[in-house]
Amino acid sequence: MKKIAIFISGRGSNMKAILEQCNNGVLQNVAQPILVFSNNPEAAGLETAKSYGIPTASIPSKGKKRVAFDQEVIDFLENYDIDYIVLAGYMRVLSKRFVQAFKNKIINIHPADTHQHKGLHAYEWAYNSNLKHTKITVHYVDEGVDTGNIIAQAVVNLEGAKTLEDIEKRGLAVEHRFYSQTLAEVMKA
Ligand code: GAR
Repeated sequence: MKKIAIFISGRGSNMKAILEQCNNGVLQNVAQPILVFSNNPEAAGLETAKSYGIPTASIPSKGKKRVAFDQEVIDFLENYDIDYIVLAGYMRVLSKRFVQAFKNKIINIHPADTHQHKGLHAYEWAYNSNLKHTKITVHYVDEGVDTGNIIAQAVVNLEGAKTLEDIEKRGLAVEHRFYSQTLAEVMKA
C-alpha cells in the first residue's frame, strides 16, 4: 500500500471522498492515509479527518514567507514515511524547495482544464465564460502553478447549470469520484 499524506486548507470534501474510498472503495488496499495536514488550523476538514481516525496536523502559514513555511513543513514531514502527497484543496503555491523534496510524489486536483485556466477561482471562470463543459484535471505538481504533467482529465457537463452554485455542485460530484479513481490508477501502476 502506498502511504499518503492528504493536504487541505478548508472544507475537505475531496479528502473525505478519498478517505471513504480508502476504507471501502477503489483505494482500499491501494493507499493508506497516514496524515491529513493543513496550513490552516481552522480547516473544517481536520475535524472530518479525525472522525475517520486519521492523524492530523497543522502548521499555520499565515504571515510566513513561502520558503520558510514550506521548510517547516518539510522538516515536520521527516517524521513520516510518505509515498505520495495528495493535495485536496490545499490553497498554497508550493516553493521549489518543497517540490524538489518530494519530486514526482505530489499530485493535485484542479477544477478546470489546466491548459485553459490556472490558479484560483476555476468554477467562477467557467461560469463567467459561459462554458457548456469544463474539465477536472489531476496532475503532478511541478515548480510552476498548475503546470505539471496531466495524469487524467474528466469532463463536467455544464449544460443547464444556471448558477455558480450549480456549476460547483456538478464539478465537485465529478471531483469526488474522479480523484480517487485516478489516484488508484497511479498507485497501482
Ligand atoms: C476543490 O474544488 C478543489 O478542486 C479546489 O478547491 C476545492 C476544495 O474543496 N482546488 C483548487 O482550486 C486548487 N487550485 P474541498 O476542500 O471541499 O475539497
